[in-house]
Amino acid sequence: MKCRICQHAISAFMTFGPMPIANCFLTQDEFGSEFFFELKPAFCERCYTFQIENQPDPELMFHDQYAFFSRTSVFMQRHFRAYADWVADNHLRGDDLFVVEIGSNDGIMLEHFANRGIRHLGVEPSANVAEEARKFGVESIVRFFGPETAAYIVSEYGQADSLLAANVMCHIPDLNSIAKGADLLLKPAGVLIFEDPYLGSMLEKTSYDQIYDEHVFIFSALSVVNIFAAHGFELIDLLPQETHGGSMRYVLARKGVRDISSSVSGIINDEKAAGLHLPETYRQFKRDCEASKARLVGLLTDEKDAGRRVVGYGATSKSTTILNYCGIGADLIEYISDTTPIKQHKFSPGMHIPVKPYEAFAGDYPDTALLLAWNHQLEIMAKEKAFSSQGGKWISPIPDSKSKT
Ligand code: SAH
Ligand code: TYD
Repeated sequence: MKCRICQHAISAFMTFGPMPIANCFLTQDEFGSEFFFELKPAFCERCYTFQIENQPDPELMFHDQYAFFSRTSVFMQRHFRAYADWVADNHLRGDDLFVVEIGSNDGIMLEHFANRGIRHLGVEPSANVAEEARKFGVESIVRFFGPETAAYIVSEYGQADSLLAANVMCHIPDLNSIAKGADLLLKPAGVLIFEDPYLGSMLEKTSYDQIYDEHVFIFSALSVVNIFAAHGFELIDLLPQETHGGSMRYVLARKGVRDISSSVSGIINDEKAAGLHLPETYRQFKRDCEASKARLVGLLTDEKDAGRRVVGYGATSKSTTILNYCGIGADLIEYISDTTPIKQHKFSPGMHIPVKPYEAFAGDYPDTALLLAWNHQLEIMAKEKAFSSQGGKWISPIPDSKSKT
């Protein structure tokens, strides 16, 4: 295949096997027609972009039955309030301010600009979540972002001071069209700010579950520099985030227009020291994924052999990769508990484990909970003290340590 960014010839360094759409929770009568593709990550030695080889069509993933609602985590609600405040305090100056967000979902971030009286617009192709945003005073257009959408926004609303995104830039295969759209949309001194799961964290934790259909890229600073340089943008700031198991916030502006923070060279040096630019790092990652799979399957098999009931906690998109790659089905996990109504009473993609409302877990504790929403560990541990204190055991599919044992 060719690198999606620089067209260099690249090839996948491993396969996770056949994968379904990560957020496509289904009913029993849909099992026969479920869509699968082969999930294979690749790394470009020229522009340093980590990517997957095949990505299903966007319309298969983002539509009016999209299952991910951002507000399901209280921690994320706080995070997006802080993100909005930080943007307003550091990057918005002057009158008639206008902020656009790509992938604004249920309005979890734009709500805070609306509350400050700042003009805003969400660009959100999944109609059901965009509709939810309206309840919070957030205006959205149901479209994919790109040059045409940018031109439409400029003609209807004018140019923007800030183009924001969270956990969506890594979903979009044609980033050149995003950069072109940003160039059309932003005022001369405008900024493009986005955050996504960070490649450095994924490699460190072997959190291979960040790799699924929606995540066509996992970014590093090294790759983001190259992706946007071709369009006249430069990286002016980098801010590591704790969200989604380790993320990075990237701030870009047109070349020469803004001062560059020292964190940019600092983090790029750290990435080189960690070998993020070297193919051997990805060969090691493959070995780490295989070890992680053997560990998890071993732990769950031990639970089963001991006659203990195991329940999954959080029907995350990420868990689709874990469950399908490791071949974990309803023989090892009785059901998955999740608070999102649209996922409940359906079955998990690919492995078809039943998804039940949270009340099923709270009303009849299992012996062991598999923490599929491991990125919300602090929030969930605080909430589940009663389960833990009566002897409930937790297994994390992604143990947060470098030992990987
Ligand atoms: N920003 C939110 C939602 C992330 S999920 C958060 O961090 O919680 C990604 C969202 O981006 C989904 O709601 C999806 O419908 C939307 N999306 C996917 N591709 C898009 C595109 N090309 N343009 C705009 N939004 C997109
Ligand atoms: P999340 O990890 O945010 O994202 P992704 O789908 O991108 O991997 O998904 C969290 C899921 O876990 C979501 O379906 C809601 C569910 N959840 C619970 O069931 N209980 C909780 O306490 C929390 C925080 C999340």
